[in-house]
Amino acid sequence: EDIVADHVASCGVNLYQFYGPSGQYTHEFDGDEQFYVDLERKETAWRWPEFSKFGGFDPQGALRNMAVAKHNLNIMIKRYNSTAATNEVPEVTVFSKSPVTLGQPNTLICLVDNIFPPVVNITWLSNGQSVTEGVSETSFLSKSDHSFFKISYLTFLPSADEIYDCKVEHWGLDQPLLKHWEPEIPAPMSELTETVGGGGSLEVLFQ
Ligand SMILES: *[C@@H]1O[C@H](CO)[C@@H](O)[C@H](O)[C@H]1NC(C)=O
Ligand SMILES: *[C@@H]1O[C@H](CO)[C@@H](O)[C@H](O)[C@H]1NC(C)=O
Repeated sequence: EDIVADHVASCGVNLYQFYGPSGQYTHEFDGDEQFYVDLERKETAWRWPEFSKFGGFDPQGALRNMAVAKHNLNIMIKRYNSTAATNEVPEVTVFSKSPVTLGQPNTLICLVDNIFPPVVNITWLSNGQSVTEGVSETSFLSKSDHSFFKISYLTFLPSADEIYDCKVEHWGLDQPLLKHWEPEIPAPMSELTETVGGGGSLEVLFQ
């Protein structure tokens, strides 16, 4: 308890649940995902390519851990009379990676926090239409309160007439949650003066 941790490494976070059934095996460092093991393809995958220089990881270790987790979960399910997990309400925040400049490639970040159980759909909408290109997401990342968070990324080219929503589906929500984002573009001064000076249509200002 007296040890002050500067860095937190979670090596081998097992997640196994009977929904799917599905499992997840990750290594994390300071809250970032280092790598995960693709349990279907039975191979280690690096979340960020720059981490791969730290060496390899034998996916067999993860597969063995998963087998143990599955066995233990079966025992726990019996002990708790198959009581289902309580659904938490996830918290969603959307922001851009860098300050927004029109025409400058950027990344939108949708941070979904307080996820439990770890079953979620995170998708992106642009002007109400589903977007799949330029989308990537992390695994479920563990938190000390046993809930999880997950981050979805959307690379995009900011433009004045495009608005975005991060759509989150989770059993803790009555309906899909849409978190809205649109670029905050300060109106150029000259246009403002022109509109006001023109006197005709003040409503242009508020569009
Ligand atoms: C599970 O059910 C048994 C039999 O009905 C009961 O004795 C036991 O207390 C229950 N366990 C839990 C954790 O609810
Ligand atoms: C996620 O999407 C799939 C496919 O549309 C759907 O079957 C599933 O129920 C969704 N999951 C949640 C948690 O809403």
